[in-house]
Amino acid sequence: MPNSPKAPPSGGNAVAAKAAARATDSGPAALASGATDDAAVVKALQTNDLVAAMPFNPGKPGEHGFANGVAPQAGSTAEPASRLVTASTLSEETLSEKVGSVALEGRNATIEPLDRVRVDSTGQVLTTNQGVKVADNQNSLKYGVRGPALLEDFILREKLTHFDHERIPERIVHARGSAAHGFFECYEAATDLTKAAPFNEAGKITPVFTRFSTVQGERGSKDTARDVRGFAVKFYTDEGNWDLVGNNIPVFFIQDAMKFPDLVHAVKPEPHHGMPQAGSAHDTFWDFVSLMPESTHMLMWVMSDRALPRSYATMQGFGVHSFRMVNAAGASVFVKFHWTPKAGTHSLVWDEAVKISGADPDYHRRDLWERIESGAFPEYELGVQVFTEEQADQFSFDILDATKLVPEELVPVRPLGRMVLNRNPDNFFAETEQVAFCTAHVIPGIDFSNDPLLAGRIHSYVDTQITRLGGPNFHEIPINAPIAPVHNNQRDGLHRQAIPRGRVSYEPNSLAGGCPFQAGATQGFVSVAASISNREEQGKVRAKPEKFADHYTQATLFFASQSPAEQDHIANAFRFELSKVTVPAIRERTVAMLRNASEALAQKVATGLGMEVLPAPLPLAATSVAAAEVALSSALSLLHRPGDEPLKGRKVAILVAPGVDGDFVMQAQEELFARGVVPRMVGSRIGPVRSATGEVLQADASLENEPGFLFDALVLPGGQEAVEALARDGNTAQCIRDQFRHCKPILVHGAASELLVLAGVPFVGDQGAGSDDLGVVLAEDGQAPAAIAAFLAAMEKHRHFARETDPPQA
Ligand code: HEM
Repeated sequence: MPNSPKAPPSGGNAVAAKAAARATDSGPAALASGATDDAAVVKALQTNDLVAAMPFNPGKPGEHGFANGVAPQAGSTAEPASRLVTASTLSEETLSEKVGSVALEGRNATIEPLDRVRVDSTGQVLTTNQGVKVADNQNSLKYGVRGPALLEDFILREKLTHFDHERIPERIVHARGSAAHGFFECYEAATDLTKAAPFNEAGKITPVFTRFSTVQGERGSKDTARDVRGFAVKFYTDEGNWDLVGNNIPVFFIQDAMKFPDLVHAVKPEPHHGMPQAGSAHDTFWDFVSLMPESTHMLMWVMSDRALPRSYATMQGFGVHSFRMVNAAGASVFVKFHWTPKAGTHSLVWDEAVKISGADPDYHRRDLWERIESGAFPEYELGVQVFTEEQADQFSFDILDATKLVPEELVPVRPLGRMVLNRNPDNFFAETEQVAFCTAHVIPGIDFSNDPLLAGRIHSYVDTQITRLGGPNFHEIPINAPIAPVHNNQRDGLHRQAIPRGRVSYEPNSLAGGCPFQAGATQGFVSVAASISNREEQGKVRAKPEKFADHYTQATLFFASQSPAEQDHIANAFRFELSKVTVPAIRERTVAMLRNASEALAQKVATGLGMEVLPAPLPLAATSVAAAEVALSSALSLLHRPGDEPLKGRKVAILVAPGVDGDFVMQAQEELFARGVVPRMVGSRIGPVRSATGEVLQADASLENEPGFLFDALVLPGGQEAVEALARDGNTAQCIRDQFRHCKPILVHGAASELLVLAGVPFVGDQGAGSDDLGVVLAEDGQAPAAIAAFLAAMEKHRHFARETDPPQA
C-alpha cells in the first residue's frame, strides 16, 4: 500500500509546492512542502508514494530459465491512493455532452456490445457527418438555377468524397463470402482436454461470427464456383477471441507456406487477360499443381462434389492443421477440428452449379440469409480427433503435413458442442467485409502444432489486414473487438478509437501502479513448451520430413472411399477442367500424376480427353511408403452424413397454371411446409392463377425468374387444362429436364405425367418410372397423401444418382 499524503506544509512553502505541482517540465525539488487542499499537490504526493511503493522490479529474476519460461509469473502492482494519480489530466472532471465523464475504472469502452455503434435513422433528420442538418439533398449549390456549381458546397463535397472512398481492397483470397452471427454451446465440460473457455462448462454459450467464402474468385464472383469453401469462425470467448479459420475440405494443396503465393497466383485469373473468373479450369492452375504432386489428395477433394456444396448449411468444416489442446495442468494433446452440419452433407451437380451461377450468382448468400430469416438456423456440431504425440509418431503419415488427414476409423471424432447461426448481420460491409480472422488468434487452452503451413498463416492474416483494413487498429472495428477486457500499451496508428486515460504506455511502470500488469501463467496464455524432437538431425534447414514425400496414399484412399456416383463426378470434373487447359502436355502430366493415385481414374480421365495412350506415371518422390492404417474410410463420402434434418430449408417448385388441381397443390404445400421445406408456386408468370375448382392461387415465382434448377425438388400437380397450358411454355420442359438430369425428386400427379413425356425424360413409361429409388413419384388422382409422403422420403435422399447418365440422356 502507498504511504498516506505528507503532512500539510505551511506559508510560502505551500505556494511553492502548488507552483511546482503545476509545472509540466520540472517537478518539485522536494515533496515535503505542499498543500493537501490542492489537487495538483495531492497528485504529485500520491504519485511519488505510488512509485515509492515499487522500489524495484521484483519480476526480473523470474524472467530467466526454462522453468520460469513455461510458467511466467504475474506482474507486480501497487494500488494508487486515489484515481487522481493515474489520470491523464486534473481537468478530467470537466464534463460536457461530448467528453462524457471520467473513464470507468478498468474499463475499455471500445469493446462494448455492438449496440454502441448501431445506427437507426427512424424519424431522424438527414445530416452531414458533422451533424449539420441538410436542408436540400437534391441540388448542388449553384450561382443561380442555371449557374455554375460552387466550390464552397461543402455538403456536396463531403458526400462525394465519402462516396469516392467507399471501397476497400478485397481479400487477396476468400474475397467472396457471407457471414452470420450465432452461438456455440458446450455439451459437457472438456476440461480433461483443454482449459479453453468455450469448453469449460456444460451448457456454456459463447457468441460467434462465422464467415463462409470461396477462394479463387473476386468479391463479386459467383457463389457456385467449383472451389474450396472457407469456414471461418470467430469465437468471442470470455478469455479473448479465438478464430478457427478452416475450410470445408480437411486437407490442403501444399505443405509449406513458402508455396502459398505460388498456388494463389496459379489459380487466380491469369494475369495477362484476367480470365477465368472464379475457376480453376485453366492452364496456370494445372501447370502448377501437376508440378506439385503433393496436391493430388486435395485435387481429389476439389474435383469431387465437396467443391459444389448445396448450401453453407450442408457442408462440413475442418481446421485442417493439427492443433493442440492444453488443459489446466499444462498437459497437451494434438487435435483436428471437425464441424459437422446437422442438415447433412449435400452438394450440387456440375451442370446445376453452372446454371445456378448464371441465374443466381448469390445462391449461397441468399440461402444462408433466407434460412436464418425463416428460422431454419444452420447448425453444426464441433468435434475433435484427439491423439498424442506418441500415437502420432506411429502413424503412417506425418500429422504436420496439411495434405494428409487422420482417418476417422483411426481416430474417432469426439463431439464437444454445437454452433447455431441465428442472426443475420445488420450491415454487410461493417460486419462481413470488415471482419478479420486470423489463425494467430488463439486463447489459453488452444495452441499450434509445428505444421509449416500453419506457421506461415500465423503471420499472413494480420499482415494483409493491415493493408485491407487501413492500418494496425482494425481490432477496434466493432465486429473484430473481443468481449473480453482489452488493456495494453499499444498506442496510436491510423483510425485509433480508444482514448487511453493516463500517461503510462509502457511496462514495467510504477507511475500507473504497474498496470496493466503481466497476467502470469495462472491467467495468461502460455505456449506449450514443446521440445524439438531429437530424433531428427538438428540445425537450421530448409527441407521436409520424409513422410511428406508420400503424395498418393491418401489420394487413393479418398477416391476408393467414394460411392460410384461420386467417383464418376470426380472423373468428369478432371475431364472438364483438363479439357479447358490449352496445353496438351499439362493434361498429360496431370494424368501421369493421377496414375499414381488410381489407375481406373487416370484411365477414365484419359479416355474422356481423347488421350489414346496413357502417359507413364510420374516418378515417385518417396523412396518407401509406410503401410496405410485404413484402405477405405466411409466417412469420406458425402453419403455418410445424410443429416438429422435434411429437409429444413430445402426449396420445392410447384408448377401451377390455370386449371391446376388446387386441392393437391394446397395439400402438397402444407405437408412440405410442415417439414420445414419452402414450397413455392411457380407459374409461366407471377400473379393469380385460378384452379380447376375456382380457388385463386398466387404464383410468386415464374419459370423465367426462378428457373427450375434453383429448386431442390419439383412438384407437377394434375389438372388437364393446367398441364396443357404448361406444355405450351417451353420453359416447362426445360425445368423438368433439369430436375431429372440433376437427379432431384419429382412428384408427378395425374395428368402431369404428360409433361414428362413432353420433356423427353427417358425411361418414363417404358422403364418403370415411379420407382421410388429413381426419385420420380407418380401419383394417380386421389393418392395425394401417400404420394406426398413418398416424395418427402425421396427428398430425404436428396439425389437419385441411379438415374444419372453420362452424357445426359435428356
Ligand atoms: C500458407 C498458407 C496460407 C496463407 C498464407 C493464407 C493467407 C490468407 C490470407 C492473406 C487471407 C485473406 C485474409 C484477409 O484479408 O482478411 C486468407 C483468408 C482465408 N484463409 Fe487462408 N491462407 C493460407 C492457407 C489457408 C488454409 C490451409 C486454410 C484452411 C484451413 C485457409 C483458410 C482461409 C479462410 C477461411 C480465409 C477467409 C477468412 C474470412 O472469411 O475472412 N487458408 N488466407
